[in-house]
Amino acid sequence: MLVDNFNRTHNYLRISLTDNCNLRCFYCMPEEDYAFAPHAQLMQVEEIQEIAETFVALGVNKIRLTGGEPLVRKDAAKIITGLSRLPVELTMTTNGVRLHEFAAVINDANIRSVNISLDTLNKEKFQLVTRRNNFDRVWQNIQLMLDMGVHVKINVVAMAGLNETEINDFIAWTKDTPVHVRFIEFMPFTGNKWTSNKVVSWQQILAQVETEYSYLPLKGSANDTAKKYIVPGHKGTFAIISTMTSPFCGTCNRMRLTADGKMKNCLFSKEETDLLSALRSGQFIAPLIRQSIAAKAAELGGQFGKILDQVHPEDILNRSMISIGG
Ligand code: 5AD
Ligand code: SF4
Repeated sequence: MLVDNFNRTHNYLRISLTDNCNLRCFYCMPEEDYAFAPHAQLMQVEEIQEIAETFVALGVNKIRLTGGEPLVRKDAAKIITGLSRLPVELTMTTNGVRLHEFAAVINDANIRSVNISLDTLNKEKFQLVTRRNNFDRVWQNIQLMLDMGVHVKINVVAMAGLNETEINDFIAWTKDTPVHVRFIEFMPFTGNKWTSNKVVSWQQILAQVETEYSYLPLKGSANDTAKKYIVPGHKGTFAIISTMTSPFCGTCNRMRLTADGKMKNCLFSKEETDLLSALRSGQFIAPLIRQSIAAKAAELGGQFGKILDQVHPEDILNRSMISIGG
């Protein structure tokens, strides 16, 4: 078991397969000419499997694949198939653009839940956010996953001046469609133009919903990051991930592995533990994993607090989101 100094047990590993992506969301990938990590620097298929097995031996029972965009990696199918043999619940976070190419793999790997990022229901705005014209494809692939009986969560990064006027359009979508919309408060990362006034808070989101709907809170589970709600009678649900105004660090069970094989004990941690280099030089990585968890800060990587006006993204030492994997 991986228990830290705050008595949190870590059983959930998020593995980034690549820092590459086929979209260019401005809040995630700072510039068009961002230099992707060369392939040799990334964990190879067997290395991912071996590192994952070590984590499983230490108590991990849930693995999420992230990116960048995990499905742009050429050997993604191989990686998914390998990890599906482990005794874990396997899930992924994807932008949805390539999901149709992976329908069979997802089925065979028994992936029962996917998170799909979609910040707007408006085709033109999608192009504005992602700098790519893939709205229809993503929309079709959401339907495809639903048809396959996969549990679909939709990640919406709520940003003032961009999509806060669409909150109730997303709620309307949940009426007849069993999607689970999750509004995420906009978070600061290196180079992503975050300012405190662009955050649409948990309370502001609920206030918007209240103008048109009544809703009920849903019971959550122990390590939930999202506060869940349902509009009675709707097939889908909605939730809010309030990282900025009400962090859920107290129940955190998550660890991250970047595509280049560095372990992060928190999304906002400064420190990284180079598991891949250790593995390549023949060292045991389990002690390194334990050390990383022992050094985990109580909250937000120990880098900022809840008073948004006092948060300055340039003071936070971290990677950009694309190279962490959400
Ligand atoms: N703030 C909040 N969410 C973000 N994501 C990417 N960057 C940010 C940010 N700055 C989301 C993506 C994806 C998930 C992994 O994280 O939209 O859905
Ligand atoms: Fe790609 Fe997701 Fe980042 Fe958008 S948010 S650029 S889809 S990794």
